[in-house]
Amino acid sequence: MRGREPELRAVLDLVRGAANRRGDVLLIEGDLGAGKSLLLSQAASAAEAADTSVAAAAADELSRFMPLGPVLMALGESPSELANEAGASGQVSTPIWLVEAARTRLEKRAAVGPLLVSLDDLHWADPATLHALRTLPWQLASHRLAWILARRSPDQGNDAGLLFDLLESEGARRISLQPLGDGAVAELLTDALGAVPDPGLLTLAPAPPVTRCCSPNSSPACWRRTPSTSLPAGPA
Ligand SMILES: Nc1ncnc2c1ncn2[C@@H]1O[C@H](COP(=O)(O)OP(=O)(O)OP(=O)(O)O)[C@@H](O)[C@H]1O
Ligand SMILES: [Mg+2]
Repeated sequence: MRGREPELRAVLDLVRGAANRRGDVLLIEGDLGAGKSLLLSQAASAAEAADTSVAAAAADELSRFMPLGPVLMALGESPSELANEAGASGQVSTPIWLVEAARTRLEKRAAVGPLLVSLDDLHWADPATLHALRTLPWQLASHRLAWILARRSPDQGNDAGLLFDLLESEGARRISLQPLGDGAVAELLTDALGAVPDPGLLTLAPAPPVTRCCSPNSSPACWRRTPSTSLPAGPA
């Protein structure tokens, strides 16, 4: 990963904290393509290298319709299994009950060894997930657990942003990924081309944080974010 040294240090610190029962929460936000998912995958690699297990998932457009979907996916639990459990114990499987069940699962996982919970794309999160993330980090603060949460900003709705504001006010560390510097963009181009780009080529590089290279097959979103004067015209 290029040009994100302070962010990578924060990730390493987070992973160390999991083993030390610090209950840390790291919030990552940034524009489309800013490198949020890449940073989360770096966190997962750092955790695995430190014998910390990882429970990771991402929200998406459809998971919004499943209460607590991303948390259950991260835990490898199916809602129907939990619902059966709730039925067996005479409880109703409401979202609140699901959050309680998730808390118990997390406690058990953290009792076995340090655990990193990584949840991406929380701008798509359903209300039960947002509620869970509002309460679980402090409820489980004394366990061997750390949290890394990411959302795209600015997002359409306000709810994930509100969650980030609240968690930050309670001590979570928040990182807003800024555009990459010229040096990092040059390094990315070198990686992509296999040769050091000359200054003329660098002036053609898409403005950060756009780090994907647009090709004729790229999505319209990629082309919209690329200055029209710098690259050949993309698809309509
Ligand atoms: N600092 C970086 N160094 C190297 N590659 C990067 C960097 N930042 C982003 N990339 C690459 O750019 C692409 C987009 O990054 P990524 O998917 O992590 O963005 P994102 O913020 O998660 O985007 P989205 O909002 O669409 O989910 C990926 O191919 C990723 O590997
Ligand atoms: Mg992403």
